[in-house]
Amino acid sequence: MAWPLLSHFASMLKNPQVGFSDPELKQCTVEMNHLGQPKARSGNFATVYRGFRPDGKEFAIRVFNRRQDERLEHYRTISEYLQDRSMSSMVRFKYDQQGIRSAGDGKLYPLLTMDWVPGDTLFEWLGFNCREGCVRALSMAAGDWLNLVRELADHGVVHGDLQHGNVMVSPEGHFKLVDYDCMGVPSLIGRRNLETGLPPYQHPGRNGDTCLFSGLDNFSAIVIYVALRALAASPGLWRVYVDKIGYDRILFREDDFREPASSPLYRDLAKSPDEQVRDLAHDLFELPSRDLRDVPPIDEFLQGCKSSRGAVVPAQPHSFRNAAFPSTRPVGTGRNPSQSPGAHVRPETKAKAASGKARRRGPPTTPSAAIGSPHPSGASQQPLARAGQSIRPKPGRPPLPSRSVPTAARRPAEPRSQWMWWFAGSAAALASVCILMALCLIVWLLFYRQ
Ligand SMILES: Nc1ncnc2c1ncn2[C@@H]1O[C@H](COP(=O)(O)OP(=O)(O)O)[C@@H](O)[C@H]1O
Ligand SMILES: [Mg+2]
Repeated sequence: MAWPLLSHFASMLKNPQVGFSDPELKQCTVEMNHLGQPKARSGNFATVYRGFRPDGKEFAIRVFNRRQDERLEHYRTISEYLQDRSMSSMVRFKYDQQGIRSAGDGKLYPLLTMDWVPGDTLFEWLGFNCREGCVRALSMAAGDWLNLVRELADHGVVHGDLQHGNVMVSPEGHFKLVDYDCMGVPSLIGRRNLETGLPPYQHPGRNGDTCLFSGLDNFSAIVIYVALRALAASPGLWRVYVDKIGYDRILFREDDFREPASSPLYRDLAKSPDEQVRDLAHDLFELPSRDLRDVPPIDEFLQGCKSSRGAVVPAQPHSFRNAAFPSTRPVGTGRNPSQSPGAHVRPETKAKAASGKARRRGPPTTPSAAIGSPHPSGASQQPLARAGQSIRPKPGRPPLPSRSVPTAARRPAEPRSQWMWWFAGSAAALASVCILMALCLIVWLLFYRQ
């Protein structure tokens, strides 16, 4: 049976009375774009619209772009598991196997309704905060990301597709996950993956045969954490690796992981002004050479990271729920950088200050140094047997560039260029004085010598 076209669902959304099977949804309205069509947010496998209930409350309407036989059982299982749990990173959802009508054949098709998450995708949020140089917001986001990953692990939940479009940043600055198509809960462990997740956030060893297992999110959680830390240290990376080339992912490419030795991003991360970023990047780029199932959970990865070992850790990581890290802007208004605590501070200045601190005192203990911070449950505090173990690259794979970068390369670029300017200025001044003296000599010789 052919699956309906997107336009078949869209035209039904203009007429909820007919389009929806649920009596309550029949009363709703759907957000329209400037052409008078339902305003769609598209991913790969579903299309999402914003609906308004009769009381004005927003909700997400998610229609699927293709048939998936296991979907009903999948959503039934995860909603049963999650119904008594309170997870701040997730939103409520309801799956209806026969929820929306297609204008093509008049039949009913699956529909997922969810709480609407106002705000931006992680991609949009990062783009804005990097361009504005909001290093404090970026640092805090890294800490909050750790808390989100730990919350999932505490509840035995695997998201399955952690990536820039499935992580939303609410106006209050909270991370919320959407898109639960790949989600795994304990009773689904061992089942076939419905999707394989978005590269390059996924380990290269993940494919259609990969079964759900508790560590499925480990690689993507680490990739996103390292990206957040790297951007907090050098927000300018966004301009080079995303804006300038019109890339639609956060920094990393599949090629970077396949050939780290020839990756410009890897070289730049190895020169990060933040020592921990240099070490994290080094360790991250070694993960693809491990088996997918050997990628450690993020806390174990951080414990193994050279510069975080023995770090003084904060007694309590700052609360994700009370987090004050700013969102991009209030929903429905223009961009407002003044909302961000770090918005008015030039990124280079902060990056330099951060690098200076790191050199003087070792790993900082502020939220920006959430690396190695304790698990709320106290887990992962023991040094792990694997910590610091060196990983041999697979045969045939070029060895990673060394972790120890020459001192000159570690220095941020700005001070070196300042010295160059200083020398150039002095040389120019000296040359001017010499020319002036030569002129005086010529004048003296011509007019006064006789
Ligand atoms: N509950 C929600 N609230 C607000 N926006 C959402 C919600 N769910 C999804 N979106 C938006 O729709 C986009 C696509 O949705 P998603 O569920 O990720 O589809 P896909 O499975 O195709 O990736 C997301 O990147 C996000 O911008
Ligand atoms: Mg998605």
